[in-house]
Amino acid sequence: MYDVVYFSSVSENTKRLVEKLGLTAVRIPLKTEEAERFTYDRDSVLIVPTYGSGEEKTTVPKQVIKFLNNPENRKHIKGVVATGNTNFGSSYGLAGVIVSEKLGVPLIQRIEILGTPEDITQLKERLTKLWELR
Ligand SMILES: Cc1cc2nc3c(=O)[nH]c(=O)nc-3n(C[C@H](O)[C@H](O)[C@H](O)COP(=O)(O)O)c2cc1C
Repeated sequence: MYDVVYFSSVSENTKRLVEKLGLTAVRIPLKTEEAERFTYDRDSVLIVPTYGSGEEKTTVPKQVIKFLNNPENRKHIKGVVATGNTNFGSSYGLAGVIVSEKLGVPLIQRIEILGTPEDITQLKERLTKLWELR
């Protein structure tokens, strides 16, 4: 199965979602300079929350941008899951949309906050399918 690489801010919603998946998971550091040095060399799915409330410049967390600036990290990302909040309307999960387009990998799912049990089940099914198709 793919590992999970994720970012989660101090509110740790995404961290709690990831814990429910029961997969090997690594967290991109909160400190930008650490995120810049952080490497992961196993094929993974990236789970990314959206910030910036629709402001284009800050939509993708800067720590995630730093991590993805490293081509070695980038090449191991096989899919993206977007977390966010539907209250943000058209920018719901936008960071995941942007990253999946940039990397040319599928946007597997958009999940609100921690995800419902149904979201988790669906995500596990989709991750299994993606893994089998590799
Ligand atoms: C300042 C701020 C801006 C946000 N902007 C967006 C947004 O544009 N789109 C969206 O879907 N969610 C947005 N969110 C919601 C977060 O993506 C959501 O709470 C997510 O679960 C945070 O994950 P984390 O706690 O792991 O960092 C925003 C949250 C904050 C605090």
